[in-house]
Amino acid sequence: MTRHEDGTVQDALDAYWSARAVDYDAHQVRREGEARVREAWREVWERALPPGPCRVLDVGTGAGGVAHLLAELGHEVVGVDHAEGMLERARSRRPARGTPPTFLHADAVDPGLAAGSFDAVTARHVLWTLREPDRALAGWRRLLRPGGVVVAVDALWYPEGLRPVHEAASGPLDAPMLSTYSDRVLAELPLAQAAGVAEYAALLVRAGFVDVTTEPLTRLHDLDRELGVAPGHRLRQQHRIRGTVPAA
Ligand SMILES: C[S@@+](CC[C@H](N)C(=O)[O-])C[C@H]1O[C@@H](n2cnc3c(N)ncnc32)[C@H](O)[C@@H]1O
Repeated sequence: MTRHEDGTVQDALDAYWSARAVDYDAHQVRREGEARVREAWREVWERALPPGPCRVLDVGTGAGGVAHLLAELGHEVVGVDHAEGMLERARSRRPARGTPPTFLHADAVDPGLAAGSFDAVTARHVLWTLREPDRALAGWRRLLRPGGVVVAVDALWYPEGLRPVHEAASGPLDAPMLSTYSDRVLAELPLAQAAGVAEYAALLVRAGFVDVTTEPLTRLHDLDRELGVAPGHRLRQQHRIRGTVPAA
């Protein structure tokens, strides 16, 4: 049995995200209601995806915010997540235009989809919470065609652990998050306490991606500073981490 198939930690993460889905979705819908925020995110993806309508796999899609935005931009999108509650929210949304994404229950580490069948894999705020981001990235590479790209957005969320972040954040402590992402669980998540974005980039390189770049998303940072971050969070610089599958 691999570490990932031992479901104990993953079950706890799934239960947390399923229970959190309604609030999470509501916060995102509120935030995406701001035209400036939508525009900033549109730019994040458009600058990184290959030209033309793409077939995109959005991993750890959650309530489907990224998947729906990409569908509205004309891409054909499959979203996968391991928390049923999140998938329920994702399926209840409708993109303003374009073909609705398909949402599947699947593990980010091995979504069980056809090799070489996607032009891009997107993952926003997901790599940090994976138990095996190295295996996940190697799997995503297999799902991509030669020349396809992985585009992740993440931050250095918890370099000092979760409790100090929550105690310094505005609003009430997120008790379920603190008990789910205990020190023991954080220790199982290789990127949750990353101290530099280079740790993300190094995993992409190790998974065989080339032309790996990282870029701070300063426009989003300015918007987060102005509009405030989600309850229980601190202002963090988000980064886009991108890599390409070598041409065949
Ligand atoms: C912070 S949320 C991000 C959701 C979404 N990408 C977004 O930006 O709104 C992390 C998501 O990763 C999902 N997740 C965690 N571990 C996973 C796994 N092994 N396979 C698939 N999804 C997973 C959670 O269920 C949750 O929906």
